[in-house]
Amino acid sequence: MARILTGIQASGIPHLGNVLGAIAPGIELSKDSKNECFFFIADFHSLTTVHEPEMLRHNTYATAAAWIACGFDTSKGYFYRQSDIPEVAELTWYLNCFTPFPMLANAHSFKDKSGRLQDVNAGLFDYPVLMASDILLYDAEIVPVGKDQLQHLEITRDICSSFNRAYGETLIMPQAVSRKEVQMIPGTDGQKMSKSYGNTISIFDPEKLLKKTVMSIQTDSLPLETPKNPDTCTVYRIYSAMGNENQNQVLAEKYRGGNFGYGAAKQMLFELIMERYSAARDLFGKLMADQDELDELLRTGAEKAGVIAYETLARVREKIGYNKFAYYSSKI
Ligand code: ADP
Ligand code: TRP
Repeated sequence: MARILTGIQASGIPHLGNVLGAIAPGIELSKDSKNECFFFIADFHSLTTVHEPEMLRHNTYATAAAWIACGFDTSKGYFYRQSDIPEVAELTWYLNCFTPFPMLANAHSFKDKSGRLQDVNAGLFDYPVLMASDILLYDAEIVPVGKDQLQHLEITRDICSSFNRAYGETLIMPQAVSRKEVQMIPGTDGQKMSKSYGNTISIFDPEKLLKKTVMSIQTDSLPLETPKNPDTCTVYRIYSAMGNENQNQVLAEKYRGGNFGYGAAKQMLFELIMERYSAARDLFGKLMADQDELDELLRTGAEKAGVIAYETLARVREKIGYNKFAYYSSKI
């Protein structure tokens, strides 16, 4: 049995990159009854950038709805909001004290965000330690993520080793998994698709808007007749992360054969997205219209996950030399 865990920030509506890079691989793993899955909405992480309560709440529901709409059976795993289990913040403090400052200062994601954002807060700097806590609090072994998160997983592993070196084996060493074909889905401008770059394809958008977004993908300006290289085209790169071998081959041949324009390629991509996600789109709409149901699922999930968090924290507190259980606690 393996314990799988992954999180998605509530900083927007999940997009095709999130679905292909994290949600779908997570759900695939959850179908193996030997795996135990923890999927959560990283709304503490979102506070580094989202300071509007209504938006945070809306994004949290949308992220939860996306997991279920894409096929996660919440009764088979642990499905929760990060903020419902505040033990993760306590563990973050402990792990901070095992995290070398330069390791965080050199993290790509921090350098990238601190270069772009106006509000460079300490939460943004400490982000990878909160992520390490998410993982270590639940003794996760396998963490499915996109390529952008691999460095954060290395940081988690380093922190885990330092803690275990100091106190003996206490925390479980996790491992990232990232499938090569979906490691980095490009956005409409060809860069990594990301909520923070404004280049996302949101599969849950209304059909018209979704089509407009797909049609806006940037391409080169080769004329229609000229044969084209699929591998350097953003439209093909997105398509081939979704299509099966046969579909991808058909499209690649059209590119190479000439007399095939980018407009037609975009239309094929749009159709593939609509076909693949039509059921998910319907279910997403229904769930967003019934947030009580989402609340109930998340509450049940938090109750289950909270017990595990509490036990890990007791183990950690005792090793450090604190009381095993905080006095105020009433959970056990
Ligand atoms: P964003 O960059 O849009 O804010 P998140 O940071 O919330 O997305 O990412 C949630 C998960 O989705 C992570 O596992 C991340 O690696 C994955 N992911 C995000 N963007 C992509 C992408 N373009 N391609 C593949 N995986 C992605
Ligand atoms: N940092 C991740 C991202 O932005 C989201 C996340 C938070 C996460 N905690 C996690 C992913 C723990 C995997 C495991 O994509």
